[in-house]
Formats: sequence, C-alpha cells, structure tokens
Amino acid sequence: MQIHNLSKTPSLLDTFMSEIRDKNIQKDSMRFRRNIERIGEILGYELSKFLSFSEKNTETPLGTSNTKQYTNDIVLCSILRAGLPLHNGLLNYFDNAENAFISAYRKHIDNTNEFDIIIEYLTCPDLEGKTLLLADPMIASGQSIYATLEALKPFGTPKEIHLISVIGAQQGVDYINEKVGDNIHLWIANIDDELNNQGYIIPGLGDAGDLAFGSKLQK
Ligand code: URA
Repeated sequence: MQIHNLSKTPSLLDTFMSEIRDKNIQKDSMRFRRNIERIGEILGYELSKFLSFSEKNTETPLGTSNTKQYTNDIVLCSILRAGLPLHNGLLNYFDNAENAFISAYRKHIDNTNEFDIIIEYLTCPDLEGKTLLLADPMIASGQSIYATLEALKPFGTPKEIHLISVIGAQQGVDYINEKVGDNIHLWIANIDDELNNQGYIIPGLGDAGDLAFGSKLQK
C-alpha cells in the first residue's frame, strides 16, 4: 500500500486537525462536521493529483485555453455513520461521483475485548474499471475498512483504489498494509501511535460518529 500521510508537511490541514481533536472545540458539532468535511476536501484534492487526465480546449470570452480534466469514473464509498461528513467533503470536489454506502460495526463478543465486524447494509454501483474512493475517518484496528473492501468485491474490480481517512492507529494502518497490494493508496491526515483496549485511537479524538451526530444507546 502506498501511504500518503499528509501530516508530514505542515499546512492548513493542521488547523482543522487541531480543532477536531480539541475537546472544547469538539462540543460544537457543526464545526466538527464541517472540519471533517474540509479535511475530506483537502485529501480529495491531494489524491486528485494521481488521477488520469486528458486535455480539453475551453473557450473563454477572450480566447481558447488548453485545460486538463480528469477522466476517471469515480465511485465514492463511505462507511456509515461516521464516514458521512468525510463523504460530503469528497463529494464537494468530485461533482459527478457515483456513491456507495455500507454499514459496518463492531459486535463485541461477550466479556472479551474481541469483536466481529458486522456488515448489514450495502448499496453500490458497478465498480468494474472505475476509481474507488473508500472513506473511513478513523482507522482503528483496520478490520472495518478491510471487511468493506472484501464486501465490495462482488460489485466488480476497480481500476484504482484510494482509501481516505482522517486519523489512523499505526497498528490499523499496518494491518491493512499487510492485507492489500502496492497498487492501493491510503490518503490520511495523521497516524497516531496507540490503540487502547476499547479500540479507541490514542490520542485520537474520541468517537467520530458521536461527535458528528450525537451519542447512541449501546444495545
Ligand atoms: N472510531 C472512532 O470514532 N474513534 C476511534 O478512536 C476509533 C474508531
């Protein structure tokens, strides 16, 4: 897997990252969602440099400009529910993307820290020959995003796959790296060192789904 960790070069992205991690600023859930969306826009812009382009003559009021347009057919897939603000950010830039949604959650095995990944809902267009962007804001163990890649296989073989994430735990990034080939790219805003035994990234930011959409009852 080719890992593009955008934290390696300081940029405006650090401002948004600092705000989503800040326990006081996080209380403003609209700002949290909008910052995740802005991070999605930046990650989308960065990965766009790896797309295929063709030239096009565009008529301006004063002449003809030789412009470039990407030619990839993009399918944007997000893991519900935390992926939605990241999805919106990517969709802000990839205007004509087709969309796929998947629900993947951890079902804990009684009295242990072990869990299974349960996929209950999946809607996806044909992926054959297309460019798949798979958005998951928090890569903790890496099992959800990998289970999603497996679940998407019956929908066709994409020409390219880009994984997009905000924060990953090193252990989760390593897990995916071992499972997938070199042709897959990961675009990520930062990678943290630790994962605690509840599956939270440390220092991370907490529960991205709860911060964006409110807390839920555990059943
Ligand atoms: N999902 C989250 O929302 N936060 C984490 O730290 C890990 C997974």
